[in-house]
Amino acid sequence: MPFPAERPRRLRRSERLRALVRETRVGPEHLIYPLFVAPGSGFRKEIPSLPGCYHLSADEAAREAREVERLGIAGVILFGLPEGKDAVGSQGYADDGVVQKAVRAIRAECKELLVATDVCLCEYTSHGHCGVVEGQDVVNDPTLELLAKMAVSHARAGAHVVAPSDMMDGRVGAIRTSLDAAGFGDVAILSYAAKYASAFYGPFREAADSAPQFGDRRSYQMDPANVREALREVRLDVAEGADVVMVKPALPYLDVIRAVRESVDLPVAAYNVSGEYAMVKAAAARGWIDERRIVRETLTSIRRAGADVILTYHAKDLARWTS
Ligand code: PBG
Repeated sequence: MPFPAERPRRLRRSERLRALVRETRVGPEHLIYPLFVAPGSGFRKEIPSLPGCYHLSADEAAREAREVERLGIAGVILFGLPEGKDAVGSQGYADDGVVQKAVRAIRAECKELLVATDVCLCEYTSHGHCGVVEGQDVVNDPTLELLAKMAVSHARAGAHVVAPSDMMDGRVGAIRTSLDAAGFGDVAILSYAAKYASAFYGPFREAADSAPQFGDRRSYQMDPANVREALREVRLDVAEGADVVMVKPALPYLDVIRAVRESVDLPVAAYNVSGEYAMVKAAAARGWIDERRIVRETLTSIRRAGADVILTYHAKDLARWTS
């Protein structure tokens, strides 16, 4: 045999060849774009920590959603900046809340775009925690009822998918039961199954004004050191009726995405979070990295790790660069 018998470079000689044997693809059809919705109308203001992303009133969110739909992106996920906050986050499950209004406005404008909503109390509570607070504790079971109410109110407004991100135990089951009882048996649950207590959420908390006013989220979000525990969380959410399970953040947790992919047969999502985005944007603004190549490589790595779906602030950029 002449040396070397195998020459892997043969298949790298041209872009046609490379595309022919490419193992992983990422396109707008795999992506969900987060939107931050605010009160009022005609309101659109760039979020300093998330350049290229905006606080949007319902009408502006509908305009943005039309653009997202036109770009071929699968869907949007909505986060709310409510008019007012209180101890139990009541604006989160008010039928005329910011997210509910935006869902209705988007559904009226977009025929195909998937509309998902984040289900969590932290944007709506005065203390900024994801659940009901008693003393210094975030209490689990009293929170479930409120999350279920929020999910049902999002479904009533027209959400196709609800995405609980609070990390309370048993919330997927509580939400599934309430959705079914209210006649929303076909509304899907995308559960933030393995959500870590991460410093990568920093820019989001500024964008959503949702930083906890005391303590931190480590009594409910996961310890970044754990992967077996992620599989346990995923198993519980699957048993409770989750339709898609998510790992969050994405890039520092590619191994977790891979482990989850191998342990369940449901679709797996990953959230390429605000801190991951902000770092890319900051370095690109300084000319230190090639933004297009970095974004494509990053999103490809998340797909290669096993994610079917990626929630990402880069969605519009990637879609534009692809078309
Ligand atoms: C709400 C929520 C958070 C994110 C999504 N849903 C913040 C948090 O848990 O503090 C983070 C998203 C991001 O950083 O892009 N619980």
